[in-house]
Amino acid sequence: MDRAILEEAERKTTESAIDLDMVYKIIGSFPDKSKRHLIPVLSKIQKEFRWLPNEVIEVVIKEMNVTRAEIYGVISFYPQFRMTEPGKHIFRLCYGTACFVKGAPIIAEKLKEKYHMGNGETDPSKLFTLECASCLGNCAAAPMAIIGEDTYGSIDPDKILDITEKYSK
Ligand code: FES
Repeated sequence: MDRAILEEAERKTTESAIDLDMVYKIIGSFPDKSKRHLIPVLSKIQKEFRWLPNEVIEVVIKEMNVTRAEIYGVISFYPQFRMTEPGKHIFRLCYGTACFVKGAPIIAEKLKEKYHMGNGETDPSKLFTLECASCLGNCAAAPMAIIGEDTYGSIDPDKILDITEKYSK
């Protein structure tokens, strides 16, 4: 392997390395390390990293003095916590009653056909992670979806791929 390729590989490794200092900083931002802060700590960490990598969980176990069973119990109980790296964009599709009736299942089907992902899954190219949510709070604009920071309402289910196309560029 020539030097440039090695340097590029090294740079990528460094870039993708997890900043554990940030984890210590987040834990330290709470008044103490008691277990009652576990859920807010994990939420803050996930907000930073978008998921909960193993290395991070190990730090929380040591610093907050929780057992592996306790922490995995919490993570598996709350669906908002992710144990796998999500796609570039989180696609939150509302599956509440109003959106369901107005075509959310058709949207889900089209996403499945095009991106081969179901609820909770990431497409093979890691562009989207689909999360079917309960009511997103704006039923008048059903069906609704939130992709990353962008909110979409009154979606024509047959045109959902026109919307996702924008994120493929
Ligand atoms: S049911 Fe979808 S926003 Fe309320």
